[in-house]
Parts: sequence; C-alpha cells; structure tokens
Amino acid sequence: MNHSAPLPLVNSWNEWDPLREIIVGVADRACFEPAEPGYRPALRDSDEPFPTGPKPAEMVDRANEQLDGLVRVLQGQGVTVRRPDALDLTRPLKTPTFEVANQYCVVCPRDVMITLGNEIVEATMSRRARYFEYQAYRKLVYSYWNADPRVAWTVAPKPSMADAMYREDFWEWPLEKRHAEMHNSEFCVTQDEVVFDAADMSRFGRDVLVQESMTTNRAGIHWLKRHLEPRGFRVHPVHFPLDFFPSHIDCTFVPLRPGLVLTNPERPLREGEERMFHDNGWELVEAPQPTSANDEMPRYCQSSKWLSMNVLSVSPSTVVCEEREKPLHDLLDKLGFEVLPVPFRDVFEYGGSLHCATWDVRREGTMEDYFP
Ligand code: ARG
Repeated sequence: MNHSAPLPLVNSWNEWDPLREIIVGVADRACFEPAEPGYRPALRDSDEPFPTGPKPAEMVDRANEQLDGLVRVLQGQGVTVRRPDALDLTRPLKTPTFEVANQYCVVCPRDVMITLGNEIVEATMSRRARYFEYQAYRKLVYSYWNADPRVAWTVAPKPSMADAMYREDFWEWPLEKRHAEMHNSEFCVTQDEVVFDAADMSRFGRDVLVQESMTTNRAGIHWLKRHLEPRGFRVHPVHFPLDFFPSHIDCTFVPLRPGLVLTNPERPLREGEERMFHDNGWELVEAPQPTSANDEMPRYCQSSKWLSMNVLSVSPSTVVCEEREKPLHDLLDKLGFEVLPVPFRDVFEYGGSLHCATWDVRREGTMEDYFP
C-alpha cells in the first residue's frame, strides 16, 4: 500500500478490509414501524395490534446504551465513529403519492446508505415510513463530499410508493401461492418502479451481490447494474428460495475475508448461484444455530433469529459479534478470527443487529477482483 497518498475519505470496497471510519445509528425519537402496503409488523405471541407511535423512553434508552457500547468497542479498535441526526420521526407524512402515520427510526444506516468504492449511494428504499430516512445522513454526506473531491455521491431515483407500486394481498397469500411466487421472485413490491434497500447488497470488491427480495425488485437490480457496471463493478442478482420473507442479505450470506463466507443453513443459495464461489476456491461455512429461537426474540423484533449472524468485521481477522452467540464465537475462533462480543439484543426491535446498525464509510484497500 502507498502510505504517502491518504485514502479518500470515502473508500470501502468490501465487508471486511481494515475499518477506519463508520457511522453507528441512534435510537432517539424512534417509533414503532407502521403497517403499510410494503410491510406488516405483527406480534408473534398475540393477536393484539402492533403498537403505533413513539417507542417508550426506556426502550429507546436501552437501545442507545447498547449502540453507545458498540461505539466504544469500535473506538477501542482505533476506528472513527460518527452518528446520524436524530430526526423527528413522530409526525404523519403526506407526500403527493402516499401518506403514512409516522416514520420509523435511524438505527439501521445499512438499509439506506452504502459505500461502493469512493461513491456513496442512497438507496431508493421500499417502505413509506423509510422514504425520508436519508435525511438523517445528509450532514455526514455533505461533510465527506465537501472535504474530498474524490468522493462521489449518488441518490437513486425515488419511487412513488403509491398503492399501485405494491401487491398488498402478498401478506395474505396462502403458503402454496407463496411457494409458487417465491420461484418467480414476486413479493410485495411490483416490477414497475426502481426499488432497492442498500442492505440487500453485499460487497466483494469488483463483485456486488444483490438479493432479490421484498425490499429489492428486479428493476432495482437493473438500475444498480446500469449504474455500477460502467464503473468497473459486476452486479450479481442472488436468491435464497427458502426464505419466504426475504429482506436484506446480511442475515443470510455474510463474507468475512477473501475466500470465506458465513452462510445460513436454512437459506441455501438458488442452485447455480454458488458456482462463482466454488470456481474461485471460496469456502462457504454454515453458521451454527442461533442461541434464541424465533419465538424467543425480543417482543417487538420483526427480524428472525438469524440476526445472530449479522456480524460486523473490523478487519479480515477481527469480528464484532452479539455477546450471547457463543456457538458462533467458537466457530469464528476455530476459523482464526478474534471475536469482540458486544451486547446488542435491545437493538433488535429497531430492525437489525451489528451490521445493520452501521454504515462503513472508510476501510483500507482498493477494488480487487476475487472472482477472476
Ligand atoms: N430479514 C432478515 C432476517 O430476519 C433481517 C435483516 C436485517 N438486516 C438489516 N440490514 N436490517 O433474517
């Protein structure tokens, strides 16, 4: 590496290179996510309606404590940490094409923002309550963009999020139909507009995987291909046909270092899609069963038990993991990683774990071709 030329302020080509700067979400002023055509929050243990409006202060405080704990661990590793603005998320939104009762939270920058090399891309998003979440990151984006002319910044086209963009009956499909449509990759969002969440991508240098899901449609993947391929990237659509409610790839397929991906044993890749890994000598290692079953996850958590594998790499040999996931710590230890355990369960109901709650802006390294 050339030490005389400092890295561009925005520089991150994969999920594992040595981390220099990262954004960690904040729980302030978070609300319960509202029901909308693209989303149906529900309680697992009762038919009571899912709560609405602002989350209780003690819940917000607990999440903030754990987010702050992650910040301290990262700072202890020499990483610069910055935080988004806590927006006022509590008021109803009304745009020309949709309305929604309140917004959600700014705990999961991963879902909204992505660094692709020296470029920041703001995702279109797929849910009404998250349409304006990018605003929490704009001050940060301007600070990088103003300070370094090498930083590129792209905002993906905003979809209408009008009723016609969604298939609202998706939520009531019987299992059989769900199974059939699953193989056509048809979910709650139609193919008429460009739709993607940033967290459906996983970065491997030149190669970017994009999961087709409830939150990313084929038009979204097409836009990413047309935007990224002229810049030297290769975009690979991927599918995990046993995940009936797919959303965000980082609990399903998690690269840890060149040659190694942590995989979800209940969500194998569609046949044929593993070929690029096998042909290039990559190892796909199954994550152990999580320590909590789905019905033991925090009450308002809408994610699966596989938040267990939502880890954050500080380097190709150091990984931040949720404190309770001992079987995963042991596996990573055997694979030669140092594990930094962090308690994070109080963050789960805000949409994710350690990878979701962060957005890496700068890592060492350059664009490499791991799949020549
Ligand atoms: N849909 C995933 C699961 O339940 C959760 C993904 C969370 N990731 C994120 N970036 N918010 O397994």
